[in-house]
Amino acid sequence: MRLRKKSISFYDELRVSDQESISLGFCDLDIANGIDVREPVGERWAPKRRLEFKAGRILARAMLGARNCSYAMLLPDIDRVPLWPDGIVGSISHSSRRVCVALADSDKIRCLGLDTEPVNSVAEELHAMLFNTAELLAIRSGTVNSTEVFCAKEALYKAVYPEHREFFDFLDVSVEFDGRSFTARTLKPLHSSKAVLSGYGRCQVYDNHCVAIFWV
Ligand SMILES: CC(C)(COP(=O)(O)OP(=O)(O)OC[C@H]1O[C@@H](n2cnc3c(N)ncnc32)[C@H](O)[C@@H]1OP(=O)(O)O)[C@@H](O)C(=O)NCCC(=O)NCCS
Repeated sequence: MRLRKKSISFYDELRVSDQESISLGFCDLDIANGIDVREPVGERWAPKRRLEFKAGRILARAMLGARNCSYAMLLPDIDRVPLWPDGIVGSISHSSRRVCVALADSDKIRCLGLDTEPVNSVAEELHAMLFNTAELLAIRSGTVNSTEVFCAKEALYKAVYPEHREFFDFLDVSVEFDGRSFTARTLKPLHSSKAVLSGYGRCQVYDNHCVAIFWV
């Protein structure tokens, strides 16, 4: 399956250290309209869910193909975590209009999480449930916006979940931004605490969407 190039809004290699880079791709969910994927799509899924699942698989296949990575299907495990081909870590995220995929080599990056949301999409009445006092102060001072903090927390959860299979909530972790980069810590002892503390994150805006990645 080929990806129509005009449908890719953004494709980039983010150099995150001297030796590590992360591929990031971003495109419209519409890319999946009228296209079948090899992975089984739930028969009872709503049309929107089918579209986002297929768009994620199409974009991931195109990006894995660009790395000459051959595999049969990108199946979800029992927790919906994609089973990436050997040698790859990755993450998929969708908003109501877009899909985003991040990939890296697993010998350089142990785990990778991604989240995307339209900018200014986190309602203010939810802030107290999502953000701690330090984060609320940073949001109010304008050094970071609420969507970035939200995406950062979702990205770090998705990065560490596949290894630790542990649920934690927004108020169990704290993120601190330095420009567009962020680090994080857990606010209570968790199996994931060490991984969260040793990871790094970055947030960027593409096409009116905030995109956060977190890697360990
Ligand atoms: C997984 C979760 C974080 C985001 O899922 P979402 O709202 O559907 O948002 P996204 O579109 O960004 O991500 C969905 C994709 O992530 C992947 N995914 C799903 N569950 C995952 C998990 N537990 N860990 C890693 N990746 C996961 C899948 O690829 C999925 O897309 P697909 O089913 O089409 O393949 C959320 O559903 C969840 O489980 N939350 C509970 C914990 C939480 O939010 N804690 C607060 C953060 S600190």
